[in-house]
Amino acid sequence: MADKTLNVISICGSLRKGSYNRMVMNLLPGYAPEGMKITEAPPFSEFPLYNADFQNSSGFPAPVQKLAEAVRAADGVIFVSPEYNFSIPGGLKNAIDWVSRLPSQPFAGKPIALQSAAAGILGGGRMQYDLRRCMIFLDALTLNKPEIFIGNCSQRIDEKTGQIKDEQTVGFIEQQLAAFAKFIVGHGGKG
Ligand SMILES: Cc1cc2nc3c(=O)[nH]c(=O)nc-3n(C[C@H](O)[C@H](O)[C@H](O)COP(=O)(O)O)c2cc1C
Repeated sequence: MADKTLNVISICGSLRKGSYNRMVMNLLPGYAPEGMKITEAPPFSEFPLYNADFQNSSGFPAPVQKLAEAVRAADGVIFVSPEYNFSIPGGLKNAIDWVSRLPSQPFAGKPIALQSAAAGILGGGRMQYDLRRCMIFLDALTLNKPEIFIGNCSQRIDEKTGQIKDEQTVGFIEQQLAAFAKFIVGHGGKG
């Protein structure tokens, strides 16, 4: 019988060791519904700054190809990212820009879910609008609801244990992941 497990990858927008978004991302496998496996995508920390001249002379760097292959192979992608200056952190935007230049653009038709943890009370909402717009241009399929904005994140996430202290937030994340599984299947993913 064919394997119906939904293989989803997660991409963290923060490179910081003590990142709250990374803590949330690390918890996702435990919140996933039955039949969904969530693993971390290959890192983008070694990507050079995007430059078309570099691409034309040297091609796509190996880490870019690795992430692009992981996106292509995944049944869905979850971004878990902070908001920097009301928008997408530069490193994550650079990673998306690189991956988007590959032939048979990997995000096209790909189910996407967004989550953010931020110090501000809006919880990274403005970053999500910008990331959503990028995904529109790339013909990705971004889940609308439920939305996950973890505002005032240092109060909701225990930086010592890496656990989310707020049960309501955990419940919203579980609901989003369950909705994402249905969304993937509904858009022709494994089912
Ligand atoms: C360059 C920079 C810009 C930031 N801009 C915002 C912002 O626009 N909105 C916000 O809520 N927090 C902002 N913050 C605070 C972050 O939400 C906070 O540092 C958060 O913990 C970063 O996520 P991380 O813990 O996953 O690294 C900013 C932080 C940095 C370093």
